[in-house]
Amino acid sequence: MKHGSQPTRDLVERDIQAQSQPMIDPVGRKVDYLRVSVTDRCNERCLYCMPEQFQQWIPRKEVLTDDELLAVIDTAAELGFRKFRITGGEPMVRPKFPELVQRILQIPGVESLSMTTNGTRLRSLAQPLWDAGLRKFNMSLDAIDPDIYQTVTGGRLADVIAGLEAAQAAGFQQIKLNTVLMRGKNDDQILPLLDFAAERKLTLRFIELMPVSLTEVLDESNFLPLAEVRDMLEQDDEISLCEHQEAFGFGPARYYHLKRRGIKVGFIGAMTDLNFCEQCNKMRLTCDGMLRPCLGNHMETDLKQALRPEFDLAQLKGLFLKGLGEKPEAHLFRENYQPQRIMTAIGG
Ligand code: 5AD
Ligand code: SF4
Repeated sequence: MKHGSQPTRDLVERDIQAQSQPMIDPVGRKVDYLRVSVTDRCNERCLYCMPEQFQQWIPRKEVLTDDELLAVIDTAAELGFRKFRITGGEPMVRPKFPELVQRILQIPGVESLSMTTNGTRLRSLAQPLWDAGLRKFNMSLDAIDPDIYQTVTGGRLADVIAGLEAAQAAGFQQIKLNTVLMRGKNDDQILPLLDFAAERKLTLRFIELMPVSLTEVLDESNFLPLAEVRDMLEQDDEISLCEHQEAFGFGPARYYHLKRRGIKVGFIGAMTDLNFCEQCNKMRLTCDGMLRPCLGNHMETDLKQALRPEFDLAQLKGLFLKGLGEKPEAHLFRENYQPQRIMTAIGG
């Protein structure tokens, strides 16, 4: 593998190739966004993701090595993927994570790299990640009250606030906060979280609870539809849909402007937004090398067969195209979907 050996020439070749055969799925969507889970482990225990009793870890030898991950990302870039997001589990629990980020950024065709983190390790890793070239990330923040934060995530709010501050001090300006809402758990945090985001001039996104965890937390009683949140915000602020939605990110969030607070708020209504999948541009890679065309569908393609015992580029490309060809039109979350793998294994 040659990573970054001739970036300019490679990139020109890649652009020509990607334009001549862009990754188009069976319903005509252009797919150029890959979310890469680098570990299924996490140092928090969010109720909606990886509750305390969860123990089904992926054996370490099944997790892709740095070289294998780079080979997959390199191949994806060759096929026309341009946007990448590193997820977990918690990506920062992976050993030598900043070095991995630096190597991913050297791959020709990687035009955008972001990360989804819980923020707990940012205090020590924000600067090394900035030095590695990372410029943006999303951080989960489910509550701004320390006790509620601890109940929902099992972690310490002070750690993630210190992490956020370290990241801002290191120079990060493109930071979004993510809040998964659960009725009766953190719904009283909506306004305080928005006030916190406004103080720091950050965009906050509310995410509807999805059935991607253990079945017991998928209870309807925990579910809070985002329409309720919007109604609540209409009472509290002046809210208007932003123009140029595409300017805010590559995902399915709908962004609104909050006039009084002077910030943007995003809504990720995976369950109630019936058009949620229409513009879907992504596939996922699990940390054990499964290509997953849709979060809400069990279909997976095992890329490891093209990586072990040895790397086979042609086979790997073929497997990517097979995954693309199987990408479903929409997720199955509204159809009594039963999760088999939790989000940490799939890649948030
Ligand atoms: N529903 C919605 N979002 C979830 N995440 C994890 N589990 C769920 C769930 N059940 C999201 C969180 C976290 C990211 C890794 O995945 O927002 O930030
Ligand atoms: Fe860890 Fe993120 Fe899952 Fe919470 S949502 S347990 S922080 S991976």
